[in-house]
Amino acid sequence: MKTILVTGAHGQLGQCFQKQSKKYPNFKMLFCSSRELDITSQEALQQFFKQHQIDFCINAAAYTNVEQAEKEREKAFLVNAEAAKNIAEICKKNGAVLFHFSTDYVFNGQSQKPYKEFDEVNPINVYGSSKLKGEKEIQSAMEDYFILRTSWLYSEFGHNFFRTILKKAAENANLNITTSQIGTPTNANDLAEYVLRIIHSGSKAFGLYHFSNEGEATWYDFAEEILRYSGKMDQVTLNKTGFFKTLAKRPEYSVLSKERFVEAFGSLKDWKSSLHGLIDEN
Ligand SMILES: NC(=O)c1ccc[n+]([C@@H]2O[C@H](COP(=O)([O-])OP(=O)(O)OC[C@H]3O[C@@H](n4cnc5c(N)ncnc54)[C@H](OP(=O)(O)O)[C@@H]3O)[C@@H](O)[C@H]2O)c1
Repeated sequence: MKTILVTGAHGQLGQCFQKQSKKYPNFKMLFCSSRELDITSQEALQQFFKQHQIDFCINAAAYTNVEQAEKEREKAFLVNAEAAKNIAEICKKNGAVLFHFSTDYVFNGQSQKPYKEFDEVNPINVYGSSKLKGEKEIQSAMEDYFILRTSWLYSEFGHNFFRTILKKAAENANLNITTSQIGTPTNANDLAEYVLRIIHSGSKAFGLYHFSNEGEATWYDFAEEILRYSGKMDQVTLNKTGFFKTLAKRPEYSVLSKERFVEAFGSLKDWKSSLHGLIDEN
């Protein structure tokens, strides 16, 4: 039986792992929240790995507040880079395979075409820089890792754009949504499902991959599709805005090319069909 540790298990992606792993009764899943296992503590990690024989570690823990990271640089780097290094070293020492998640924000957004894994990275905010450092720490500490860069995660869990838009619809809000960024919404359940499928397959195609749903959208397109498909379009006033004032700069274009992932592991759902599936389910 494979023993799989999931850190940050109470976060959005962590909760998707809790849901999707029900399809794999033969996996022994160990879900740890930030309180149960603080990944910035080497001692806590060492103790945990001593107590359990871990085959796979899924690091769903991260500092993800993009705005706040501009003011808490040290904390963002501690969780996203230092702790990623801790986890990589402990995985290597214990012969565990590591799954780690990074972001489209490692790119500066000036491209006109989907970013490939080995295109030049050049983050324009603190969060992106801290996640990039995390990738590098893992790559220099070990070999048996999967780093999946993903984008615009949403699901029925945690804090995300999908849930915010539905909440705003219930409040009959007036919404100004930006058209100035292009990316790909990604159902976090698809990501969790794929990771578990890769573990189940026993694949050793380790490395860096891009993972998102297929297609591209602006945040306005995403909001419109959430409202249209869930039949809530007439509950809000939806306005397009070109300008969106934030502390952290965002890449204007951050669509990821999934060619490498698809070749290794199989096809991905289109963002609209995956969104429809989630709305139908809930
Ligand atoms: N959300 C997105 O749009 C997006 C886009 C691209 C990439 N990603 C990446 O995808 C991954 C999952 O993101 P998500 O949306 O699931 O984020 P999330 O909902 O913010 O979950 C992150 C979890 O990490 C936990 N955590 C923070 N510091 C920790 C520590 N020191 N030790 C242990 N746990 C800690 C948090 O717990 P507390 O709440 O208790 O602190 C939280 O439960 C992250 O690597 C993120 O960078 C996300």
